[in-house]
Amino acid sequence: MQNIFSLHGKNVILTGGCGNLGRVMAKYLLDYGANLFIAARTATPIADLTRNVHYLKCDLSDTDAIRSMFATVDAAGGIDVLINNAAYGGGAGGKKMTKTRMEDFDDETWEYGLAGTVGVTFRCIRESIPFFKKNNGGVIVNIASMYGMVAPDHSIYGDTGANSPVTYGAGKAGVIQLTKYSASYLAKDNIRVNSITPGPFPKVSATDPDFLKILQGKTMLGRTGSPEELAGPLLLLCSDASSFMTGANIVVDGGWTAW
Ligand SMILES: NC(=O)c1ccc[n+]([C@@H]2O[C@H](COP(=O)([O-])OP(=O)(O)OC[C@H]3O[C@@H](n4cnc5c(N)ncnc54)[C@H](O)[C@@H]3O)[C@@H](O)[C@H]2O)c1
Repeated sequence: MQNIFSLHGKNVILTGGCGNLGRVMAKYLLDYGANLFIAARTATPIADLTRNVHYLKCDLSDTDAIRSMFATVDAAGGIDVLINNAAYGGGAGGKKMTKTRMEDFDDETWEYGLAGTVGVTFRCIRESIPFFKKNNGGVIVNIASMYGMVAPDHSIYGDTGANSPVTYGAGKAGVIQLTKYSASYLAKDNIRVNSITPGPFPKVSATDPDFLKILQGKTMLGRTGSPEELAGPLLLLCSDASSFMTGANIVVDGGWTAW
């Protein structure tokens, strides 16, 4: 029987593929047959991921570097799928922030935070368009966040330093809207654009047990997610299994945003 989730013969670009969630996404993309290109700040190969995977050193805050990354994949047979997973500027994965108070966000910090969320996603989409057109279409998947849908409850973060900064939610809300805008704009070119909105996926081993319990209590399922639980929606959106989906946002949050 044909596997509708198969990525065999497809060149897939995954940005930030060496991070906490990215390395698990990479494993599943490879398992489903992708010819994978990981765009990462350091192109250090992941120990158990070496077959069918190419590591491209690329600083995604630099538009020229993004262009040259796409050109490299294009020369290897064209771009079929782009997963915009990388984010910078604070807020992903419960990382400690040096600035968490809204009033401490000067113009420069605000702009940097937006550049690292919706900005990097926009730049990658914009630069990919000519390559997708050349290939007669393709698929884009953007990784957003629950904090692009709801505000953080500041009372649970206290002085943990893991507070979600104002730029993160604003930027990720932008990623969800940018997904819909791009889907509408690029449909004529046979380019589908969807997003995944993860809920809490902290590194359990690096999270204070008391704080972890609070996070768990905020989801309907009473726990945080494990990175493997993003694989199903990711494979769906990357493959022909979602051929009639565009402009959609799949929420994978254990119910955090639904009550
Ligand atoms: N972990 C969570 O709980 C969670 C929840 C919601 C959404 N997300 C989103 O999921 C995505 C992945 O999160 P994560 O937890 O794996 O974060 P992470 O910080 O572990 O990984 C992000 C990766 O992006 C890379 N990156 C950042 N800036 C870059 C740049 N300028 N050039 C090249 N690479 C760059 C980093 O090197 C890193 O490998 C992010 O978009 C994040 O906002 C995560």
